[in-house]
Amino acid sequence: MRSGGDAARPDVGTDPRRRAEELAAVAQKAKAAADEATRVAEEAARDAELALAAAAAAAADVSALPRATGASGSGPLTAEDLDRIRSGYATEGAALELGAVVNGRAVPDVQVRIPLAMTNRHGLIAGATGTGKTRTLQVLAEQLSAAGVPVFAADIKGDLSGIATPGTSSPKLLERTAGIGQDWSPQSFPTEFFSLGGHGTGVPIRATVAGFGPLLLSKALGLNDTQESSLGLVFHYSEDAGLPLLDLADLRAVLTFLVSDEGKAELRGLGGLSSATVGVILRELIAFADRGADTFFGEPEIDSAEFLRTAPDGRGIVSLLEVPGVADRPELYSTFLMWLLADLFNDLPEVGDLDKPKLVFFFDEAHLLFADASKEFLAQVVRTVRLIRSKGVGVFFVTQTPKDVPSDVLAQLGSRIQHQLRAFTPEDAKALAATVTTYPTSSYDLAEVLTSLGTGEAIVTVMSEDGAPTPVAWTRLRAPEALMSPSEAAVVESTVSASPLQARYGAAVDRESARELLTARLEAAAAAARRAEEDVAAAKAQAEYAKQKAAIDKATSAAEKKAQREYERTMRETASPTRRPSSRTSSTSVLEQVLGSRATRTILTGVVEGIFGTRRRR
Ligand SMILES: Nc1ncnc2c1ncn2[C@@H]1O[C@H](COP(=O)(O)OP(=O)(O)OP(=O)(O)O)[C@@H](O)[C@H]1O
Ligand SMILES: [Mg+2]
Repeated sequence: MRSGGDAARPDVGTDPRRRAEELAAVAQKAKAAADEATRVAEEAARDAELALAAAAAAAADVSALPRATGASGSGPLTAEDLDRIRSGYATEGAALELGAVVNGRAVPDVQVRIPLAMTNRHGLIAGATGTGKTRTLQVLAEQLSAAGVPVFAADIKGDLSGIATPGTSSPKLLERTAGIGQDWSPQSFPTEFFSLGGHGTGVPIRATVAGFGPLLLSKALGLNDTQESSLGLVFHYSEDAGLPLLDLADLRAVLTFLVSDEGKAELRGLGGLSSATVGVILRELIAFADRGADTFFGEPEIDSAEFLRTAPDGRGIVSLLEVPGVADRPELYSTFLMWLLADLFNDLPEVGDLDKPKLVFFFDEAHLLFADASKEFLAQVVRTVRLIRSKGVGVFFVTQTPKDVPSDVLAQLGSRIQHQLRAFTPEDAKALAATVTTYPTSSYDLAEVLTSLGTGEAIVTVMSEDGAPTPVAWTRLRAPEALMSPSEAAVVESTVSASPLQARYGAAVDRESARELLTARLEAAAAAARRAEEDVAAAKAQAEYAKQKAAIDKATSAAEKKAQREYERTMRETASPTRRPSSRTSSTSVLEQVLGSRATRTILTGVVEGIFGTRRRR
């Protein structure tokens, strides 16, 4: 540069004027060059900024595939792999569109979907927190509703209520949806809000204790196997004894009765039920009620058919169960969902395979259902899940890792949508390895892919229309068309107050049941006991009276006899041997004399005053 500068320096000669002119010209040129340099630099900076933005956008698009290989940014799949996936997910009937395959970037012409007719083959939505499970649930629920299928889901975090409000568009969202071939437009869906026993805003859901049954209640109470079978005996007894178990107070009354003096004989009659076990159950029951379960149990009991409704426009109603603070009452929440399934199972007729299910049921936080469950309870869950599909009900479990779900249940799940798994701890790594083995073979290194999926992406395999598992597909999921955040409180409140279900379920009803009947029975027993006691006392008094009367009578008759003897003796003494008993008048006068005599009076008074030292006036 330096030498170039020297070479460019003009020969200014010796004429000062010429020299000044030449220097001015050079300065002018230098300034022009500097201006040009500034302009070029500014342009370069702008270009750099644009390049950075483009790079960021490109990074977002391939965020899920840091190790993209192959030509044109394609991922691990070959053209044949993609063809296989495309045909594997092709359907003749209606389907729930999940999204597009990701192969380095989204491939919109390879779509991944669940045949609607196969949604009664159940499913699993799994993934670490914040990886997109709830949004996936929402995407499925929205499309089910649109297809006229009612949906039941628990809204654990309150972020599913957005389904009642149209979503909001953003450039980022539209970029995502355009990238996967989704024609997105904001929409809301017909929604009903429910709450457990009125804990929350929704229409209160209640169930009776008898309806709930001993097995579910034992699970909810955390009873062991022995206590569980004891509770079964108590239910049996209540039914036989005509003591309806509606609310927790009823069950408490029966248990209390069985360990009371009045109920001891009945307890013995039940055989196999110890008063110690009854005591434990009572204690658990009281703690359970204190955690808020008491408002859930009772009447009117929810009719599970309420969850099978469609809106006037033919769309399925999305029933959302609000469960605020589910962590405080996980037992109630999870056993209630199971009750609902069991109730549907009991009520619905056998229908075999339909074009579309009658209801799809999302079981969020499914690990709560299976944790610490008894063998019998698990067996019942497995049985219900297996059989309920022939009644047209699909069940999707939502949980963090598939290992939260027992293998007997997992084996029955036709659709698997697995969001990102974390592998931070050895425990995580084990879970990951176990998960990988449950997938059909594929071109993916699943352990690698499962830990590098982007948010809202999942590894998917479902059951095809002919009942075979579809190829494993790395899928970028569609975005929900309703709001991804909670609906405004006012929306929820007005929906709840306008619900036609309010009239039926809004207020609790307390009709006569075990508690009242037992109270009445115990009161009647107490009154009868009181009466019996009074009768005994009266009989005793009567007997005493009779005894005393007999004694008096005896004494009186003895005194009379004595008086008679005395009289006769006096008569003998006073009568002269020559004197004949004279006329009546004279004898009377003699008698009068005798009775009037002081000695006789004293004797008689003694006899009549006699026995108890009290004067008898007879
Ligand atoms: N399919 C999707 N389309 C668009 N955005 C999505 C999608 N899935 C997830 N997201 C984004 O990721 C966020 C987290 O997703 P989501 O709430 O579904 O996670 P989660 O797995 O349910 O988390 P948690 O375990 O905490 O409940 C969403 O709020 C949304 O911004
Ligand atoms: Mg969630």
